[in-house]
Amino acid sequence: MFFKDKGVYRQNRMVIALGSDHAGFYLKEKIKAYLSNKGFEAKDFGTDSDKPCDYPDYAKQVAGAILKEKYHFGILICGTGIGMSIAANRIPGIRAALCYTEEFAHLARKHNWANILCLSGRFLKEKDACKIVDAFLSSQPEDRHRMRIEKLG
Ligand code: RB5
Repeated sequence: MFFKDKGVYRQNRMVIALGSDHAGFYLKEKIKAYLSNKGFEAKDFGTDSDKPCDYPDYAKQVAGAILKEKYHFGILICGTGIGMSIAANRIPGIRAALCYTEEFAHLARKHNWANILCLSGRFLKEKDACKIVDAFLSSQPEDRHRMRIEKLG
């Protein structure tokens, strides 16, 4: 598949960094399998079970990997997606968007140039979450929003 990377269309595999806490663990596993079936490369930063853990630890790891430009996008999942989005957005250069619908995911990429998608493990059905992931990965940033993105820093 083609994807746009820094304004250039590339054909190689898109690489995605995944992370969750215990409340997002099961959805993360489903999305990992879904991405792999679609031919994406997914690197799982944990967590590895539903044993309680702290979402900021995983948000920091995934955000750090995105900033090192090792991955094209991140997907972070906690119970609501709120904690992950707060934690990731504290890191300069990260634009994490909590999306509950496909339309939000399209707009998060087109208008906000989001580089991390945050999802709810407790309030989203797997089928809907996969559609949101598809919408996020298939949308491109619109250049008319560049000035606003630059103002975000
Ligand atoms: C864990 O119980 C829950 O608080 C966490 O997954 C998340 O929803 C926080 O925003």
